[in-house]
Amino acid sequence: MFKIAVLASGSGSNLQSIIDNIENGFLDCKIDMIVGSKEGIYALERGKKNNIDTFVISRKEYGQGTSDKILELAREREIDLIVLAGYLSILDGELLKEYKDRIINIHPSLIPSFCGDKMYGLNVHKAAINKGVKVSGCTVHFVNDEVDGGEIILQEAVPVHFEDTPEELQKRVLVKEHKLLPLAIKYISEGKIEIKSGRVNILK
Ligand code: GRF
Repeated sequence: MFKIAVLASGSGSNLQSIIDNIENGFLDCKIDMIVGSKEGIYALERGKKNNIDTFVISRKEYGQGTSDKILELAREREIDLIVLAGYLSILDGELLKEYKDRIINIHPSLIPSFCGDKMYGLNVHKAAINKGVKVSGCTVHFVNDEVDGGEIILQEAVPVHFEDTPEELQKRVLVKEHKLLPLAIKYISEGKIEIKSGRVNILK
């Protein structure tokens, strides 16, 4: 069974979309563990409700050793893929090497727009609205040592309306996120992803 770890920092609606897509048979894999970046986040509740092992690995407690601690757990549990679903901490070190091409993230914009430093949560949607772009969307990409810089796996667009508030745009993008992240996991778990010269090819 293909084993995934989901890392989260917030409400975990993307985590829920993975849980749902395993339950409805779209995904043939198992969420082996959930790692939260702090206590009290709703993503951990979702995990507990679904009998998934949950851990809290916080920067506050582990500091520079945060990624190493995650790696230790991932190794121990023989995790195949690490999925960042609203995980706010930046990963580094040996974890990125050992799990190269096996860590993915979902970002709520069309990369390379509105990504990188400080671009998380509503900031992303505020920036898109302030720029006046007519489309935004979401991106699933591999994680490397550059923030939001890994190879792009999938993208999906949504319209941006003139009257949109950041919250409204966020809601519209999230609907797409909840489809895109499970789809990326499906392709990876089925071995359908090939990386060539910094680009992803999805095999038919
Ligand atoms: C999503 O917008 C995701 O793209 C970003 O963080 C948000 C997490 O939302 N990386 P949730 O916790 O999955 O509801």
